[in-house]
Amino acid sequence: VDYNLSESGVHPLALTEILTKEEQQEILNTELFYGYTNGTPQLRRRIAEMYGDFFSAHNVLITSGSAEANFLSVMTQLEAGDELIYMVPNYPQILGLARSFGIILKELPIREELGWQWDLDELKAMVTKKTKMIAVCNPNNPTGAVMSDNVMNGVIAISREADCWLLSDEVYRGAELNGVECRSFAGATDKTVVNAGLSKAYSLPGLRLGWSVGSEEYVNRAWSFHDYTVINVAYLSDWVASKIMTYDRRMKILNRTKEHLNHNLDMLCKWAEGVSELTVTRPQAAAITFARLNIDMLSEDFVYQLRDNFSVLLTAGKWHGLEGFVRIGYGTPADYVQGGLDRIADFLNSL
Ligand SMILES: Cc1ncc(COP(=O)(O)O)c(C=O)c1O
Repeated sequence: VDYNLSESGVHPLALTEILTKEEQQEILNTELFYGYTNGTPQLRRRIAEMYGDFFSAHNVLITSGSAEANFLSVMTQLEAGDELIYMVPNYPQILGLARSFGIILKELPIREELGWQWDLDELKAMVTKKTKMIAVCNPNNPTGAVMSDNVMNGVIAISREADCWLLSDEVYRGAELNGVECRSFAGATDKTVVNAGLSKAYSLPGLRLGWSVGSEEYVNRAWSFHDYTVINVAYLSDWVASKIMTYDRRMKILNRTKEHLNHNLDMLCKWAEGVSELTVTRPQAAAITFARLNIDMLSEDFVYQLRDNFSVLLTAGKWHGLEGFVRIGYGTPADYVQGGLDRIADFLNSL
């Protein structure tokens, strides 16, 4: 397609933008060992520091993207017949994994009328003796919503009482539009696992660098499975991440993310004012917005017709678990986003 607005991240950074001249030179002479299978101690320490004093390198496993971290969480903790309470709409990786492992999926919608929050009474009612895990995505893909303090506290209390795993995919943490990192679930209960990585807020998807933060027991078990999935993250990816994940350098990247997203979102919202067929609301975080369709067309038909006739790609609400919406990514360069929006307007005019 000419305009791929199905991208959910921020336009990637180049190595020259994140490494010093000396580091760029150093990387050319780096010998390509396998590396530490659980991630270098330096990188694991730096990731642990992001989550506060309670954590050390022993609480961190470096993974091949947050996708591998999610995979390991499901693989190591759930078996066929276990129940998983799953947030929808969502990035459907955990849903697909659960289905393929014979896990019983119980989808619990976040409610638009509640500002895309869970209704805690609904969550309570869904928990049974077989509930083994509650899986959330916060900030949420595709809505960009951030879970409120009150709902977070409720989710933690319910997970504790059910003595189940609480899995939080936080790959969008750091991409808040107001520049204030939202609260993490890390350490909320003994059975809490936070998965995240450098693909979204940090604009470095090509590094394939992610992590899990959890109890030492969890991390060791996931590590033992990780030896059978990818062995370890690419040596160069760990090397780069170890350099850039200091507080100051992290903040520099996150500031760029914030500036870029706010600029593009202003543009998108202005465009949307003149488009009655879609309702675009300002998300709290992430490089995506979940736009309501105000026309009588299924989301998948909308996406396919737009792709085939106007060469713009979005994702359909149906694929995220909620009909009646399309997801628009606005993290690519501004001209590119605007080009895609102009084509969407042409498409809507043609209907
Ligand atoms: C919510 C969420 N989790 C995980 C992933 C996987 O990302 P990665 O493996 O690049 O970290 C994505 C990618 O789009 C995502 O949106």
